[in-house]
Amino acid sequence: MKTSAIVVAAGSGSRMQSNVKKTYLEINGIPLIIRTLRVLEQSQVIKEVVLVVAEQDIEDAKRLVEQYGLRKINRYAPGGEDRQGSVYNGIQAVDEQAELILVHDGARPFVTLQEIERVVEQAGRYGAATIATPVKDTVKKVADGIVQETIPRSSLYSVQTPQVFEAARLREAHLKAREQGYQGTDDASLFERLGYPVRIVEGSYRNIKLTTPEDLLIAAVFLQNESESLRIR
Ligand code: C5P
Repeated sequence: MKTSAIVVAAGSGSRMQSNVKKTYLEINGIPLIIRTLRVLEQSQVIKEVVLVVAEQDIEDAKRLVEQYGLRKINRYAPGGEDRQGSVYNGIQAVDEQAELILVHDGARPFVTLQEIERVVEQAGRYGAATIATPVKDTVKKVADGIVQETIPRSSLYSVQTPQVFEAARLREAHLKAREQGYQGTDDASLFERLGYPVRIVEGSYRNIKLTTPEDLLIAAVFLQNESESLRIR
């Protein structure tokens, strides 16, 4: 199925406590956003990539994409006030012929080609799918500092991106959320509230979202690990 990707990278990155915008922060000499885009560039199942960055950053982003020779990034959209607004703007720029739309956080560079392939395949079959990992900790519902309930861990997953959706339904879900003033914390939740099923695809704990300075340390370890395994091979 014809699949377009939207990469959202218009966050302020304020939790990174850095003068350099998070998107352009370099990890081992390569900007974070380029690391993420490279994976989508290599994926056989992705036809085009829409990159969402803050409006004032679009020209810089274009230059960077050209400098690194990425050819699948063919459209740019300005960021919204929040992540949901950024995805909405991205959707407006997606090729109308797209049958599936994949949404991915620019801040998750450790997504793999296999994860992209599996989540796209499952969304093609079920209408929507998201990468997720089983929750490791015990999770409790709390009100006023008192535990109300311990939720059975076997039923809990932490969801990540990529999330992939049938294009027409994703457009509908975003439009309805906007009209009704609904704010979701991910795209799947907008889909779920219309009663559409979302399939879980088990991913990896490595697919972290680089948010705080500590995450950069973890990223450096992952990269070190990757280059060592390449040397061994
Ligand atoms: O803020 P959060 O950690 O949820 O951001 C997840 C992703 O959404 C990041 O890649 C960030 O750049 C993006 N984002 C965006 N526009 C916003 C806020 C976040 O594209 N207004």
